Amino acid sequence: MKKVFVNGYGSIGSRISKFINDDPEIELIGVGKYSPDDKVNDAITNGMSVYVPNSKLDNFSAFKISGSIESALDDCDLVIDASPEGNGYKNKKNLYEPKNIMAVYQGGESVIGEKSVSDLLFNSRVNYDSALDKTHVMQGSCNVTGMGKILEPLRKAYSSKLLRFDVTLVRRWADLEQTDKELVDTIEMTQSPHHGEDVKSYFGKDSPLFVRAIKVPTRQMHLHIMDIRFTDTAPSTNEIHTLFKNENGIAVLQTAKGTKDVRDFANTMKFSFKDTNMIHIHANMSKSINDTLQIMYSDDQTGIVIPENHILMQAMLFKKSYNDAFNHTKNLFHMDEKKQALEEHFSS
Ligand SMILES: NC(=O)c1ccc[n+]([C@@H]2O[C@H](COP(=O)([O-])OP(=O)(O)OC[C@H]3O[C@@H](n4cnc5c(N)ncnc54)[C@H](OP(=O)(O)O)[C@@H]3O)[C@@H](O)[C@H]2O)c1
Repeated sequence: MKKVFVNGYGSIGSRISKFINDDPEIELIGVGKYSPDDKVNDAITNGMSVYVPNSKLDNFSAFKISGSIESALDDCDLVIDASPEGNGYKNKKNLYEPKNIMAVYQGGESVIGEKSVSDLLFNSRVNYDSALDKTHVMQGSCNVTGMGKILEPLRKAYSSKLLRFDVTLVRRWADLEQTDKELVDTIEMTQSPHHGEDVKSYFGKDSPLFVRAIKVPTRQMHLHIMDIRFTDTAPSTNEIHTLFKNENGIAVLQTAKGTKDVRDFANTMKFSFKDTNMIHIHANMSKSINDTLQIMYSDDQTGIVIPENHILMQAMLFKKSYNDAFNHTKNLFHMDEKKQALEEHFSS
């Protein structure tokens, strides 16, 4: 059985490791921790072996550690790097490349410039096959993954009728679990957000996509406000909602008043980590005006990239066909049930 190690056990690493642990096709060797805190025992209680850097072994004497990260990597086919932004590149150079291990990186890294971790930014809907022969691949960030899920079906359905996309990303300040991270009472403006360039790495560098971003004091998801201009009259909102209703990983909601309503419902349904693992079109906010379609959708910041990592891992480890990988992930994450429950609950 193929063996996977998850380096980092924060918002993303804890989720990915849970799903790999539930996957009968893959063996989870363990997870990497860097600070001797409560999350070490949390991981152990959840049935995972915890490994720490060789240089920090002494700091973890109070915990039941299984060994060093360096030794765990010696026995592994692929590592999911879930480290804080920028550390993935360092880990690639210091650990993964010297040990010749396949690696998946997260959205805080880059595919551009000197510190790029890969030449491929993955989005399963767009470029699954390109990952089949790669050793190092970056999974797009939550915002980049969400935009890809919207833009690709539009491109497929309307191609030359599309004139431009203007997107405002309203980004969450912190994740639900990051209770030590205070929400600051301001609306922060982000200069030159990376998200547009990241999307263009698979959408085409000259694509007419214009992205700006602000950060607001909430933990309850991102919200994207998107205006799509067409060469002629824009499609009706009904047509657009039908297009997205037929897409995987997108729920079309009619009555959610805010992003917290969606998370709260996910919690009542006992979805893992309160995640929906998808984006949600807020259909009550859609408008078609002359040549312009206006839509809003919320993006489950922590959950959306987890099934994507799982699909990507299958491409790299098993060279599965897209359909095989996609169906395995869909079943493991109960994607259809989640979508149905959300759409029924928030129906008009
Ligand atoms: N949070 C999100 O919503 C989200 C969504 C999509 C993508 N991402 C991306 O996913 C990555 C991880 O983000 P996160 O939110 O999960 O961060 P996080 O919650 O801060 O967790 C980071 C984890 O990495 C560990 N770590 C520290 N130094 C490390 C190193 N040198 N190598 C490996 N692991 C190390 C930390 O260990 P200790 O706690 O033990 O110190 C912690 O467990 C980033 O690239 C981020 O941009 C995040």
